[in-house]
Amino acid sequence: MKINKIFFKNSKVLPIDKFFKNVLYDKKFGYYASRFPFGEKGDFITSPRISNLFSEIIAIWIVACWESFGKPKNFNIVELGPGDGSLSDTLLQSFKKFPEFNIIKKLYLYEESKYLRKIQKKKIKNNIKWINNFNEIKKGPVIFFGNEFFDAIPIKQFKKIKNSLFEKNYILDKNYKVKQIFKKASVSDSKIIKSYQVLKKLKFIEFPKLGLKELKKITNKISKLNGCILLIDYGYFKPNNQNTLQSVMKHKKNNLFSNLGAADITAHVNFKLLQEFFLKNNLKTKDLISQKEFLENMGILERAKIVAKKMKFTEQSDLYLRIQRLLSPRYMGELFKVILAYKFNNDNFAGFK
Ligand SMILES: C[S@@+](CC[C@H](N)C(=O)[O-])C[C@H]1O[C@@H](n2cnc3c(N)ncnc32)[C@H](O)[C@@H]1O
Repeated sequence: MKINKIFFKNSKVLPIDKFFKNVLYDKKFGYYASRFPFGEKGDFITSPRISNLFSEIIAIWIVACWESFGKPKNFNIVELGPGDGSLSDTLLQSFKKFPEFNIIKKLYLYEESKYLRKIQKKKIKNNIKWINNFNEIKKGPVIFFGNEFFDAIPIKQFKKIKNSLFEKNYILDKNYKVKQIFKKASVSDSKIIKSYQVLKKLKFIEFPKLGLKELKKITNKISKLNGCILLIDYGYFKPNNQNTLQSVMKHKKNNLFSNLGAADITAHVNFKLLQEFFLKNNLKTKDLISQKEFLENMGILERAKIVAKKMKFTEQSDLYLRIQRLLSPRYMGELFKVILAYKFNNDNFAGFK
């Protein structure tokens, strides 16, 4: 139980986003500081490890963006939260098929965890840069993209009583157990939350303050240089007072407060809120779509047919099972959604109407 105390650092009470930030990203004891969470032997599996085709489709999407932007000579790509580096590793392989693009593109990785940076360095031996501050990007449009990036940034939760907001905080009891209490929300948080149309009628509110802080840096950059952001994640279009915090360990649901620092903790993404945020920050957005729609619009099924021609029957079955996992509404196809926000004078983006 002492581990619970560690995550409070020296505080007696913490808003839940700060608490879970310590649980996930504490430099010594945090979940992402020391363990490899990805794949069958880890806690969860993400699309780039389910099938390379997912990452190949993202590569084609990026090259198509560059063409829509008029093939600029300076072009920047930033992967947000690259995890084990699988996605960017495949991107770099795929970009070789587009030599004109391959020479000029600059790929940056944006990663919070030092441990995962090491893993990424080992996997991607190519010319690639890690970036802490987007000020380093000075010229040319910039594409930001992230798969399961936003769900990994801790959220705040509030309840509304009459018209006042109360924020969920955690405290430690005498037995080192984490208990929840609600405290009156700060004036500034209340003001921001009440400014969102999508949150207006809710009695229970999830608000990704830390995540939006990250997105604010990104929208500022896009506003200056032109560009876009593509986020793929699990989430919903319509908030419905749901508490979506969840903990997963070894591919199974875990009690939120068990195995702190050894289990992954995430929340579902409110895509309408993201859309409202981007519009407030003067970016345009495309209609929100599901992962199934996006990957199919990008031609994943046709690509799978081509790749399958060179395969043995058992490999073909494996490929189709994996594609099924990405596309089927029973698995990730509908639960996972895609948002694109952009600033540019051309509205043509592959994969979207
Ligand atoms: C669930 S993993 C997804 C990994 C990868 N994109 C994939 O699809 O397999 C979340 C990733 O986001 C990173 N991350 C979370 N918050 C971050 C932040 N504020 N800044 C940079 N990276 C962050 C994590 O360390 C991790 O690499």
